[in-house]
Amino acid sequence: MVIGGQWGDEGKGKFVSDLAPYVDVFVRSQGGPNSGHTVMVNGRKYAFHQVPSGAAFRKPSIMTAGMVINPLLLYDEMQQVDDPSVVLIDARTAVITRAHRALDGYGEINGTAIGTTRQGMGPAYESKANRRELITIGDMLDKQRLAEKIANYALAHAVELLQVAEMEQIAVAKGELDPKNALVQSNLSREQYCNLLTDELFAAGQKLAPHIVDDTSIILQQAVNSAKRILVEGAQGVLLDRDVGTVPYVTSSRTTAGATLADAGLSRYADQKNGYWGVIKAYTTRVGGGPFPTELKNGTGELLRQKGFEFGTTTGRARRTGWFDAVATAYAIRMGEISSGYLTKIDVLSAVKEPMICVAYEIDGARTAEFPADARVLGRAIPILEPAGRIERINRHDIVMAGRKKGFDALPENARAYVERVETLLRDLSGAKDFEISAISVGPWKGQTVVKQAFV
Ligand code: IMP
Repeated sequence: MVIGGQWGDEGKGKFVSDLAPYVDVFVRSQGGPNSGHTVMVNGRKYAFHQVPSGAAFRKPSIMTAGMVINPLLLYDEMQQVDDPSVVLIDARTAVITRAHRALDGYGEINGTAIGTTRQGMGPAYESKANRRELITIGDMLDKQRLAEKIANYALAHAVELLQVAEMEQIAVAKGELDPKNALVQSNLSREQYCNLLTDELFAAGQKLAPHIVDDTSIILQQAVNSAKRILVEGAQGVLLDRDVGTVPYVTSSRTTAGATLADAGLSRYADQKNGYWGVIKAYTTRVGGGPFPTELKNGTGELLRQKGFEFGTTTGRARRTGWFDAVATAYAIRMGEISSGYLTKIDVLSAVKEPMICVAYEIDGARTAEFPADARVLGRAIPILEPAGRIERINRHDIVMAGRKKGFDALPENARAYVERVETLLRDLSGAKDFEISAISVGPWKGQTVVKQAFV
């Protein structure tokens, strides 16, 4: 199980690439096109959003019913890989339609702006939770049923869709929106709009049909029974969890290890000590709205953004950047049930002259090392920073070569000190006494990793 230990974008794709040779089956069980996993292998770069990373390694890549899927994007995404036949989707997975995406965008201007990826995640998970409006991947194979479900959704949300249509019409008139990209075609009647959605989803269903299976749990059970190694890939990060993240500035699914594993139906087989991995970035980033106590709105923040290439894989948005926050990450370790950490991008931090670590917060005049449950309180937190000492420039090649013999000792002394300080703080603040940082990533490519504690 690999999950994100912060607000997403920690480098999960990198860790998954390191693990890939030891994995037989890959699983995604929550999230959808909001996530972006970059996988670099054999000189090729894959940008996955919905497809499990295993597809880049020609390994079975299973998408279980907990996800929400945009079928119009899925087919193209699968074509990046040499053998798309490894990708299988559970027929019960929820579908994101244009209408869901329209309502996601509408939500951003009509209430609390969360800064969503506008991929339709929230509305699609709403449809799933309310059941009556759920459209599944399996429904796409039956045109009559699909048409009924789409008509039902469009009727239930007629008023909002009309409002989006009006707004889009204005944006088109102002030249701000290409009519081709309008999610609600204002020149169409509701019936015509429903026909458009039905036709495009039915066509996508025909292309995806060979990948759709009724029940992916049978495949996973067979893999378990034949002692295959299964990797469940989390998406986003614990601090974006719908229930225990910085609500309401969160995603619409659960992102903890426990919840993600349960969605895959595999909790009973997971190895608690060695199997609950959290990917943690050596500094912090966040996309979208919401409190971020260690945010750097200055030249140092910009330096981290440029050196770390901190731009969203899904939206291209510049990520907000800041110091490593031990309080927030320790909370993510506890809530997310992370037992081992994979620390990424320490090489990026070496570009900064005086790196800092946030060890506690000052909130309303009082010092605390507890992460506030209420996002409004977190918004008032002032980080208490400790100088971490400059990290020497990291020569990736030399370190990776030396790392094969020397392991952790191959890292420069001040980088080791940084890792050890982070590890101690995370242990102390999370209460997870056996938490450890087992590997450190020093570059974007597979294998550019120093192993501190053997993990496979
Ligand atoms: P949504 O998931 O599109 O509804 O967006 C909700 C919040 O989660 C926004 O702040 C997004 O920027 C954030 N978010 C969603 N997916 C990811 C991800 O994969 N990485 C980082 N942030 C994400």
